[in-house]
Amino acid sequence: MTAAEPNQPSRLDELFEREPDRLSRLSIELAGLYFDWSKTHLDQALVAEFVSRAETAGFEKARHALFAGEIVNLSEGRPAIHVAERGSGAPEDVDLSAARHQRTRALVDAVEAGAFGDVTGVLHIGIGGSVLGPALLVDALGRRGSRLDVRFLSNIDGQAFDDAVSTLDPATTLVVAVSKTFTTAETLANMDAALDWLRGAGVADPYGRVIAVTASPDAATRAGIDETRILQFGEGVGGRYSLWSSVGISAALAFGWSGFEELLEGAAEVDRHFRFAEPQANMPLLAAFADRFYVERLGCQTRAVFAYDERLRLLPFYLQQLEMESNGKSVTATGKALEGPTAPITWGGVGTDAQHAVFQLLHQGTVTVPVEFVAVIEDDDSLDAEHHRQLLLNAFAQGSALMTGSASDDPQRSYPGNRPSTTILLDRLDPRTLGALIAFYEHRTFANAVLMGINPFDQFGVELGKQIARKLSESADHSDMDPSTRALIERAAL
Ligand code: F6P
Repeated sequence: MTAAEPNQPSRLDELFEREPDRLSRLSIELAGLYFDWSKTHLDQALVAEFVSRAETAGFEKARHALFAGEIVNLSEGRPAIHVAERGSGAPEDVDLSAARHQRTRALVDAVEAGAFGDVTGVLHIGIGGSVLGPALLVDALGRRGSRLDVRFLSNIDGQAFDDAVSTLDPATTLVVAVSKTFTTAETLANMDAALDWLRGAGVADPYGRVIAVTASPDAATRAGIDETRILQFGEGVGGRYSLWSSVGISAALAFGWSGFEELLEGAAEVDRHFRFAEPQANMPLLAAFADRFYVERLGCQTRAVFAYDERLRLLPFYLQQLEMESNGKSVTATGKALEGPTAPITWGGVGTDAQHAVFQLLHQGTVTVPVEFVAVIEDDDSLDAEHHRQLLLNAFAQGSALMTGSASDDPQRSYPGNRPSTTILLDRLDPRTLGALIAFYEHRTFANAVLMGINPFDQFGVELGKQIARKLSESADHSDMDPSTRALIERAAL
């Protein structure tokens, strides 16, 4: 996208001239975060068009249904009650979540009070939504003054196991096994490996060191965990939306229960905004408008998120599951084929590393990639302020360069510009602002889903591969497999 061609939107720099108030209309302050969507092609006409599309798509009704705890996950006949975990849902869901939080809190208190003896580390086992959120929280917030060495294990790979336990002392480690279903092969295999590790180190009661977090307590009991150490969360809490529930216990152990409560409060503030702000000033909805515009009108197949803060380096991984597992679908919530493109591929990295690796394509490549910069104003490192100043200025410079470009007689040195970017600037990184940031992304994902007519709360696409893996591992007869797969199995002597 080099210039304003027929059927192409105006150039970004022109939009600023044409709409002198666009910065104030497209930037919003919320819960310690500043969102700047002014470097997107959303102009007043487009916003109005998308507001009316949201009306036609039944956005208000869908949002009401979400917060009222109605069945919004049609294919599985479930509500999506993650908002109740931060006090924003239907009263009965909020009460149940609060009671479950009290149990989690009691366990955190018990660990701190020494009920499990001397505890110096936590081995958190889980995969997908049962690990990505907690790992993001601990990595972002548990760096300074973390009470415990919290390690995460997800992949079914002995290398990952060895890495995860390398700094842990089995005698003083708690295992937190998280699985909504408690049937996930990787998690159960890793839990068994952890039990062997404890046993091998002479821990007298290995099961007594395991806390299970699940929506299927019976399955956890069958796996050998005593009910006193099973923390239940609701069936209506989707895995990738679950960090607010007892799934967040490892984070609460790392940075304390009061910090965990602040995380929930930050999210609740964004919930209130999403529920009550006018559509044209509703940040998750506005962001979804821009998302749909780039995917549907400009054919963007990817979007990139760069964390200009090492503490947020896991954000792109977290967002990949949130956005791609939620909205990477081809049919509507009622099963009708969708004609247009749905979720783009979410990818990203860390600034300024990414500048020296992938930004060439972003500035001069032939594809348009909407770029998101996420940065934090207040630093929390041991170096002088100049270091952090350089980091932030780099982020802002990239956004400016993408938008304005630079003409040159030498085509090699010419930058077309007119490339969209968005910026989210946190005043500081603390539990409250991180909770707000994650809740913003959840609601943006939901808003995208409503605009497309998708159910963002199921994920049948991940099942087929799991079924085939199970079948392959249970039977030595692979004769019904395709020749390529059969040859791979034979070559690896499996
Ligand atoms: O395979 C995808 C998935 O079902 C995710 O949706 C989920 O977060 C992950 O597996 C883990 O599932 P569980 O929490 O049941 O172990």
